[in-house]
Amino acid sequence: ALNRTPLIAGNWKLNLDHLQAIAFVQKLAWSLDDAKHDFAGVEVAVFPPFTDLRSVQTLVASDKLPIAFGAQDLSAHDSGAYTGEISGAFLAKLECSYVIIGHSERRTLHNETDEVVAAKVQAALRHSLVPIICVGETAEDLETHGPSAVPVAQLRAALAGVTSAADIVVAYEPVWAIGSGQAATPDQAEQVAAALRAVLVELLGDDVAAKTRILYGGSVKAANIAGFMREPNVDGALVGGASLDLDEFASIARFKQ
Ligand code: G3P
Repeated sequence: ALNRTPLIAGNWKLNLDHLQAIAFVQKLAWSLDDAKHDFAGVEVAVFPPFTDLRSVQTLVASDKLPIAFGAQDLSAHDSGAYTGEISGAFLAKLECSYVIIGHSERRTLHNETDEVVAAKVQAALRHSLVPIICVGETAEDLETHGPSAVPVAQLRAALAGVTSAADIVVAYEPVWAIGSGQAATPDQAEQVAAALRAVLVELLGDDVAAKTRILYGGSVKAANIAGFMREPNVDGALVGGASLDLDEFASIARFKQ
């Protein structure tokens, strides 16, 4: 929307091993190349599991593919006795551009609090990774607090300590819309995205707020992407299930058609 480069991001979650990842990214690049004019000016990014990142990096770099990539999470710590964790430094070395932080599955299944999310945002920024900060309300939150209160509070908490110069992306993913087939309406997404942008204006100033991309996520498909992209404050999508279907994901990236 407006002057921001749309970002279509595929969050693979726990799907596709490194061999499947190579095949998928190669085919995605062919598909985008076949229809270059349809996705000109759109940034396409994939978020594979950690164990795929080295393979994706090698493929993207050697074939100069126009596909960005990042990780689905990172540690709040840079090194030390943290068994099983992956640092921002490691991701930066693998040429990740982005890292998803605070996805609702991390918040719910791994007990990530707002404080943990804020620490991870700091860790990403320390290593020049662009954090994709996920916020979103549950169906119960929606009923109790209305549409924007919880996402706005989560964004405020995630940005504690972030300076005005920060390059960030925000993803609004209503929990009730994730994997449910029940996407928010474009109107609902716009209402929350506008509230989130107001928080960005307040905390980071007009310039950063104007250039920050706000994505919608939750049951995005080729059939509904265009409606979201018409909204002034929605600048792209974070796609789960549909990002694993090559044709579907490529069609989402060609939303301008
Ligand atoms: O991060 C994207 C995701 O949570 C949305 O999932 O399957 O509803 O597109 P899905």
